[in-house]
Amino acid sequence: MERTNGQRPFTRQGPMQNSGGTFKFGSGNRADSMPAPFAAWKIAVVGAGTMGHGIALAFALSGLPVSLTDQDPRQLEQAKRLIAAHLQLLAEMEEISASQIDPTQNRLSYCGRLEDAVCGANLVVEAVCETPEVKESLYALLDGLCSENTLLASNTSALNIYDFLTVRRPERLIITHWFNPPHLMPLVEVVPGPETSPQTIETIKTLLSALGKTPALLTRYVPGFIINRLAMAIMREASYMVDQGWTSPEDIDAAVVATFGPRYAFEGPMGLAENVGWDVIRSVLTFLAPRLQSASGPSAFIDGLCAAGRLGVKTGRGMRDYGGRTIDEIQDERNRKILRMIRAVKTL
Ligand SMILES: NC(=O)c1ccc[n+]([C@@H]2O[C@H](COP(=O)([O-])OP(=O)(O)OC[C@H]3O[C@@H](n4cnc5c(N)ncnc54)[C@H](O)[C@@H]3O)[C@@H](O)[C@H]2O)c1
Repeated sequence: MERTNGQRPFTRQGPMQNSGGTFKFGSGNRADSMPAPFAAWKIAVVGAGTMGHGIALAFALSGLPVSLTDQDPRQLEQAKRLIAAHLQLLAEMEEISASQIDPTQNRLSYCGRLEDAVCGANLVVEAVCETPEVKESLYALLDGLCSENTLLASNTSALNIYDFLTVRRPERLIITHWFNPPHLMPLVEVVPGPETSPQTIETIKTLLSALGKTPALLTRYVPGFIINRLAMAIMREASYMVDQGWTSPEDIDAAVVATFGPRYAFEGPMGLAENVGWDVIRSVLTFLAPRLQSASGPSAFIDGLCAAGRLGVKTGRGMRDYGGRTIDEIQDERNRKILRMIRAVKTL
């Protein structure tokens, strides 16, 4: 494996643990069911938007006290409302018992002031908007407010925070990249910086595993981490095929749902290749690689949708029309499917 910029080499101790240990609601839901030392931990989440409120809920569901803060009080109100709805759904789908709703809610505090939220926190998860200047000024504040032992974890989707954030203890700074909706999706990508200590990496991985999440470690920052690199490679090819008129978006989705979908629930592309045979993969890739799309920008299909303001669920129309259904309705239906799917995967 390539070793650059003084980054530590990747030492894999075995296959990534993903034996369905991804979901543990209802298996305690108390801090004392967390391994030491986490049982005594306090978590702060900064930014209560799409990701922050769900990340806060993930910690609270595992029994840890969480302070959620946002500079916009309306976002905190909305977070409270969404978290209540998520808990109702989890109870309705018997992932938690109804009696767990109140204790989980009681573990969450909604703070208007950053200093109150992060006071005494062992871990601060940052989920503010994806703007370098916003993150930079926030971390300058956090650096002064947090104890020198506090771990700082950014949920950035893409930014190389290690290039522009300055903190007193860079060995305690790390990227933890959650997926939406974070209280349901098992994967969290863990991306250390050049100065992140092995102890910070290990602590974060252990904590995420204790939450029932599946941490996947990169050895260093690379744009897109694992999943967005793979997802955008697929999106580039899919939208190229639509541009060429070779197939329709609907048929692409149907093809993927009928192959990758069920298979990827239990084996990734590398595990699949083990079954196909690496010689076959080698031949197909040798033939196909020069014939695949290699454009360095979005396709005409995507540009057209964006230019028309057809951004998807959030604007009521994308390539499909959502017929006046609200985002909440659509997300609720999607969350139910994700829950049922994760439950099915656990039985494999
Ligand atoms: N939306 C996703 O699907 C997704 C997935 C993975 C990672 N991310 C990443 O997570 C982060 C948050 O994304 P999001 O989609 O939740 O954004 P969002 O816009 O929904 O929420 C961001 C929140 O941060 C608040 N905020 C901004 N500056 C702040 C400050 N200085 N102090 C306190 N609060 C502040 C905003 O008021 C807002 O409520 C981004 O870095 C994003 O790239 C997003």
